[in-house]
Amino acid sequence: MYILGLESSCDETSAAIVRMDTDENGVCTREICANMIASQIETHRLYGGVVPEIAGRAHIEAVSRITYEALDTAGLTIRDIGAVAVTTHPGLIGALLVGVNFAKSLAFAQNIPLISVNHIHAHVAAAYLSDPELKPPFLALVVSGGHTQLYMVEDELTFRIIAGTRDDAAGEAFDKIGRVIGMPYPGGAALDKLAYEGNPTAFSLPSPALAGEQPDFSFSGLKTAALNLINGARQRGEEINRADLAASYTATIVHGIVKQTMAALKMTGAKTLVMAGGVAANSHLRSALTEACGRRRVKFVTPPLSLCGDNGAMVAAAGYFRYRAGLFADTALNASAADEM
Ligand code: KG4
Ligand code: ZN
Repeated sequence: MYILGLESSCDETSAAIVRMDTDENGVCTREICANMIASQIETHRLYGGVVPEIAGRAHIEAVSRITYEALDTAGLTIRDIGAVAVTTHPGLIGALLVGVNFAKSLAFAQNIPLISVNHIHAHVAAAYLSDPELKPPFLALVVSGGHTQLYMVEDELTFRIIAGTRDDAAGEAFDKIGRVIGMPYPGGAALDKLAYEGNPTAFSLPSPALAGEQPDFSFSGLKTAALNLINGARQRGEEINRADLAASYTATIVHGIVKQTMAALKMTGAKTLVMAGGVAANSHLRSALTEACGRRRVKFVTPPLSLCGDNGAMVAAAGYFRYRAGLFADTALNASAADEM
C-alpha cells in the first residue's frame, strides 16, 4: 500500500509517500517513493532560532504544495493513497496543528484511514527504511533538537524507556554553543565540521553522562561550563579558539553518549542498536558508535543523513505499523506539544 506521511512539528514541512507491505510470512517490504522537504531554516536563521508563529505560518503556505509535489514525484494521484499518517506530538503546537488539520481534511475527503504518529517513534522508524532487514527487538538512541533518550523497542509499536536526559537535549546543547560562538542556526552541523579543525583535548568539560544506575544524561552543566569558558575569555579581552572549543565540546558529548549507550546495551542485552534523530547526522558520533558497536559485535543501524532530520518518510513508516495494527484516528484528532497525547 501507499501511505502519505506528513510532518510539521518544528521547522520543516514535509510530505512523503512510502510503499510498505507485509507478506504472509510477516516480511515487511519498504520503499520511499517521494520525500519532499520544505525547510524554514533560512527564515529562522535571522532570529537565531525557531520562531513558533513564523513556523506555523510557513507550514500553512507549504503543506498543500509539498503534498502535491510528493504525489507528482511518486507518479501517483491522491486516489492511490491508502492512508494518511501525520505527526501529532511532540512539537510546537501551532506547527503541529497545521499538519494535523491538513491530514484530517485529506483523510475525510478521500475517505481513507487517518493515523496519528509520535515524532520520536517516527525518527526511529526511519531506520526501517534504511535497513530492509531491521526488525525489533533493538535498543534505540534518539538524539534530536528536543530529545536525547534510549528506548528498548520491543516491537514496532512498543517503546520501553531505558534512560533519557534530565534537562536539555544534545541538539539544543550543540545549537546553543554554536550560536554563542557565531555559527549560523542550527549550530549542530556547523560545529560538526569545525570540530575537525580543533584539538579535542584543548578544554576539559563535564561529561553529560550522569553517574548512577540509570544511564541518564544531563547537558546543562556542560553547556554552562562551555559558556563560562567563552565568557571568561571575552572578559580577558581574548576570543576563545573556536575550533578547539568545537572539538572538545563535541568529543565530550560523543564520549558521554557512547558511554551511556554502551551501558544501556549491557543492561538490556540488545544485539542491535539504532541511532536516529537530527543529531544522528553528527559524523563524530556516527563513527564513534560504529566503532564501539563493532567492538561489542552489536549490529549498528543509523539512517542516511537525508532521513536523520525531520521528514515525512519516517512518519509514513511509523504510520504503516499503526495502520497494520488497526490503530486509526478519527476527525476528533488533536495535536499535543507534550511527549504523550
Ligand atoms: O530531529 P531534528 O531535525 O528536529 C527535532 O526533532 O528536534 O533535529 C534537529 C537538531 C538540531 O539541534 C541540529 O543542530 C541537530 O539536529 N543536528 C546536528 C547535526 N545536524 C543536525 N547536530 C550535530 N551534528 C550534526 N551534523
Ligand atoms: Zn525531529
